Amino acid sequence: MADPSVFAQILDYSNRANPYPLYAELRKTPVARQENGSYVVSTYREIEELLHDPRMSSDVRNLAHPAAGVPSQESSPSFLRLDPPEHDRLRRLAMRHFGPPHTPGRVDGMVPDLRGIVTRLIDGFAGRNEVDVVDDFAYPFPVTVICELLGVPREDEPRFHVWVEAGLEALDPKAASPEQQQKHAQASAEMGQYLTELIESHRRSPGSDLLSAMVTDDGPDGRMSQEQLLSTAFLLLVAGHETTVNLITNGMLTLLRHPDVLERLRRDPDLPIRLVEELLRYEPPVHFVPWRAALDDIEIADTTIPAGSQVILVLASGSRDPEHAREPDRFDPDRFDPDRFGLARDDDQHLGFGGGIHYCFGAPLARLETQIALRELACRLEHPRLVADPPPYRPNPVLRGPLHLPVRFDGIVPAQPTATTGRHEPEEQPVAQGT
Ligand code: HEM
Repeated sequence: MADPSVFAQILDYSNRANPYPLYAELRKTPVARQENGSYVVSTYREIEELLHDPRMSSDVRNLAHPAAGVPSQESSPSFLRLDPPEHDRLRRLAMRHFGPPHTPGRVDGMVPDLRGIVTRLIDGFAGRNEVDVVDDFAYPFPVTVICELLGVPREDEPRFHVWVEAGLEALDPKAASPEQQQKHAQASAEMGQYLTELIESHRRSPGSDLLSAMVTDDGPDGRMSQEQLLSTAFLLLVAGHETTVNLITNGMLTLLRHPDVLERLRRDPDLPIRLVEELLRYEPPVHFVPWRAALDDIEIADTTIPAGSQVILVLASGSRDPEHAREPDRFDPDRFDPDRFGLARDDDQHLGFGGGIHYCFGAPLARLETQIALRELACRLEHPRLVADPPPYRPNPVLRGPLHLPVRFDGIVPAQPTATTGRHEPEEQPVAQGT
């Protein structure tokens, strides 16, 4: 049986660079009760089962004893933290303007813009022989994209960056200090004020962005209330970039550790789809879903999780479960067969975007951004190499990724028109959809 302190070690910053051996230890007890009464679930089958179990709630108000890091009870939580039917209605209201069937072309229509942003960012490396992949590329790219998508002025980024960082600090399950909680509360209030003004300006003069569409929607589900608009805008703004930055950075780090795959990426325009799926399995940005609550006693893996308990689903461990994936610790982009997307889950499926009703809303966009970003970095950086391995990591164990990723290179090659408009066009290479 795994020692309950294994999870404490995983939360410890000293293990941030490589938590995977600890996940293997954790999987010896698929459902492990912790000293504080929460349950940590680490195996693929059990996580999948619980992600699809209607007795599992995402609403922290159902926790009998909220533990450290559990977000304070907001008056109007976003749909990430709601259960049906409210979750489903709000998700539908937002999805109507983001994806099929109501708005099928939104994400694919962004390809030229995404390529333009990536090209400009890499052009900006000219004259340098070292960049920080996080600060100079992987952060500004998805931030610019989500701002354009939502209709948030890009120049406001320094303001909301501070608020978002304070929020993430407070959500560390290990120890959100009273100071961090206080900072978080103040940041939430300031962000709320900022978004309220933004929503008002979109109401007065709507544009073609997602926020304008949600503010003015008169669809079958009616309009969102002001509070629901606020929580949805907040959720999309944060979820829309804080995760993708880590996937791009984890991706570049993994490629630099596997130069054969980096070289293949330069030559093979079909590789990015498979590569990004393998990254979501092998080095995912979201390591746990920390705040599920059991609504009833749940029997699973010879354990009873009592009603009201906090349940932590360790997605990153499940995706490396040897009972599910062959040679799970081997990075192998050929594991994935793009033709099988959307079919029954097989051993190449991962938990990188969660599962069930909360399956990641932005998955098609995140995939597309990362496919474009990694291919362009691979094609345009001459002889890129790591400065430090492992790089320094961000403190957060839930949204795990490098804080900085310094990379040296000999120069940049000009953007290739064929690489930027050819094989990645949506009609030739559809974006892989999750289940
Ligand atoms: C690589 C990037 C991303 C990863 C790894 C990721 C991962 C996840 C995961 C694991 C969940 C499930 C959370 C849960 O079950 O409680 C989730 C939900 C969500 N994601 Fe993402 N995400 C990414 C990018 C994005 C982007 C770009 C957006 C917005 C455009 C987005 C919006 C959301 C939203 C709104 C939810 C809540 C869905 C619901 O509750 O129904 N994500 N994401």
